[in-house]
Amino acid sequence: MKQIRKAVLPVAGLGTRVLPATKSIPKEMMPVVDRPALQYVVDEAHEAGIEHIVFVTGRNKGAIEDYFDRAYELEAILQLKNKTAILERLQKELPIAGATSFVRQQTPLGLGHAIWCARDIIGDEPFAVLLPDVLVKSSPGCLKQMVEAYAETGGNMIAVDQIPADQTDKYGVIAPKSQNGKLYEMSGMVEKPAPKDAPSNLKITGRYILQPEIFKFLELQKPGAGNEIQLTDAMAKLMEVSPFHALEYDGQDYDCGSKLGYFEAVCAYAVDHEEIGEEARALIQGFCKLPEYKS
Ligand code: G1P
Repeated sequence: MKQIRKAVLPVAGLGTRVLPATKSIPKEMMPVVDRPALQYVVDEAHEAGIEHIVFVTGRNKGAIEDYFDRAYELEAILQLKNKTAILERLQKELPIAGATSFVRQQTPLGLGHAIWCARDIIGDEPFAVLLPDVLVKSSPGCLKQMVEAYAETGGNMIAVDQIPADQTDKYGVIAPKSQNGKLYEMSGMVEKPAPKDAPSNLKITGRYILQPEIFKFLELQKPGAGNEIQLTDAMAKLMEVSPFHALEYDGQDYDCGSKLGYFEAVCAYAVDHEEIGEEARALIQGFCKLPEYKS
């Protein structure tokens, strides 16, 4: 079985749900405490053994490339001011030279099209996809849990999680066929079904392990939900010819593409932060005691 060495991170989205904040910065660069949301997802990929990350970018996303590059001027100033701790951290978090690629999705045709844009860099090997809108707080990380399960199953895998029945039209939803512990086999999956049409309440969380055959399906995939080329629709076809599992992972996910999800992520990471955790917890408890606060 081939090891999962490469991951695709689609970062071309406009971030319309958190405008105007995203008017001049990519949504993936919005800070969750003291790091861009994207850094947590990159860490999750590295923890799972990923060696090379392919960012599918778009217009106005230059800040992402700069973030993963050296900043000589900044480093020189930090050195001069003896701010060695943060300087070392910046240098430590820098990817190894040659271990990132950037490819542009010139037209926003959908998630499926964004992944297809990475086909030449991925080549003929299985790969992971991590949607950077979604932060998953767990130990081990969500992708690592999937890689461990994949070592047993091979094939393709998605992470799934239960959602309230009235939320199915926001996500890809699977049709489970059989269950073995946390692993499901599926008879299908559908993108953003209305609650009355949803085959289950298990949503696709934004973490995938895919065989390279997916690119053949993506190439031919017609627009689906939202008039976009959907990864879910291509996966539903791949499932008919290649083994596919869904893993109900352990952990909590946060949708940083939405105002409330982003706020929740900031709170969740702040209360566990080694420097400000205790004070952040006290602050949040203080807010909860405000007379006008109603839960
Ligand atoms: C995408 C996927 C969807 C998945 C979701 C997870 O949708 O298409 O299947 O459930 O991410 O957040 P989007 O949020 O980009 O509309």
